[in-house]
Amino acid sequence: MSAPPLTVALAKGKVFDGALRRLSEAGYGVPPGLSDSSRRLVVDSLDGRLRLLLVKGGDVPTYVEYGAADAGIVGHDIVAESGRDVLEPLRLGFARCRLVIAAPTERAGQPLHRRMALRVGTKYPRLTRAYFEDRGLSVDIIPLSGSVELGPLAGLADVIVDMVETGATLKENHLAEVDTLLESEAVLIVNRASHTLKADAVGELVAGLSAVVVV
Ligand code: PRP
Repeated sequence: MSAPPLTVALAKGKVFDGALRRLSEAGYGVPPGLSDSSRRLVVDSLDGRLRLLLVKGGDVPTYVEYGAADAGIVGHDIVAESGRDVLEPLRLGFARCRLVIAAPTERAGQPLHRRMALRVGTKYPRLTRAYFEDRGLSVDIIPLSGSVELGPLAGLADVIVDMVETGATLKENHLAEVDTLLESEAVLIVNRASHTLKADAVGELVAGLSAVVVV
């Protein structure tokens, strides 16, 4: 009897196409034409070795920590923000970006003052809090779920903490980088129990993906 498939949660969005490509290059039979706008949320690989779960990026570490997925492919930034207890055995070398603090261009050269009311708009409240606490700065964190760059333009936030890939969105909205909090790229994460109990299948996945990672 063949082993049950290894369940892998794939983050929809920026990481999705790259993740499918690497799985395919690693020799897993990924069904052609699969897209993250698909209504199907569970897709088995053609060779039956993987069961893919299509989930929102922020949910991937949750699925993996609870063991609903043995492994996941998602941005390192999302894993770090989640605080979930998962293993992260492999960086995958694509979807590279940086989590930065950015301010309106005319103020970007000024220090972040030790004043009580610096308002920081972000999709990354945990990492943002840790950054400012490390520096002894008291800030008002304003959690947002998208289009964070609008915050300073609309007077909602003084500065933002957000991902930068090309820098085009910052530039377009008259914002400039002040500091980098985190370097990110797509990563493979693995459930702690699966790492031991399904060591052969997990080892095969790590080795297969390692072989196709371009650093
Ligand atoms: C991300 C990020 C920036 C943008 C950066 O947003 O939050 O807004 O990409 O990319 P760039 O440096 O290449 O311009 P995303 O596209 O995920 O949308 P969102 O802002 O609605 O979350």
